[in-house]
Amino acid sequence: LRGARAASELDTEPRRVDLDLLHRWLSEDAYRALGRSRDAVERSIQGSRVAAAFDGPHMIGFARAVTDNATIAWLCDVYVARSARGRGVGTWMVDAFVRASGIPRLVLATRDPHGLYRRFGFRELVEPSRWMERRGPGPRTAGLPQGR
Ligand SMILES: CC(C)(COP(=O)(O)OP(=O)(O)OC[C@H]1O[C@@H](n2cnc3c(N)ncnc32)[C@H](O)[C@@H]1OP(=O)(O)O)[C@@H](O)C(=O)NCCC(=O)NCCS
Repeated sequence: LRGARAASELDTEPRRVDLDLLHRWLSEDAYRALGRSRDAVERSIQGSRVAAAFDGPHMIGFARAVTDNATIAWLCDVYVARSARGRGVGTWMVDAFVRASGIPRLVLATRDPHGLYRRFGFRELVEPSRWMERRGPGPRTAGLPQGR
């Protein structure tokens, strides 16, 4: 993957993620996450499987997937440090999720780099009219209702 591996390492341990740096990347430079709080970034990591790329001690890329570990995974917050772009780090992280997930359905939403995902078999939605989304936080309750 164009040398991405040569000097780098991929880590799936959430505790290894440089939270301050990731918060800066996402809240200041990722169109979908502009203004996201550090607390939200931290909680999102706790609720996801992560892959972070490192050059020695320096984190140079991050991606996460929200998943039930069985039926579906949502790939999101794919980000590569500006200084490390164009040498395959993004491809490497996506490849790791595609290989390791063992999950029959992966979904994602993206604005520009469709080509990156297309090479792993991602395609535009066949039936977009079946998809719905709800924006806004909704009322805050203690949690989902518990079964008996
Ligand atoms: C998109 C991003 C993750 C790609 O990381 P990267 O390490 O530079 O990607 P790679 O070096 O593995 O390149 C993968 C391919 O994607 C293409 N690509 C990268 N960024 C692109 C963009 N913004 N628009 C279109 N294509 C893009 C590259 O041209 C490359 O194709 P090639 O191999 O045919 O040249 C990185 O540019 C980034 O962090 N961007 C800002 C955040 C963002 O937009 N994230 C996507 C959210 S889904």
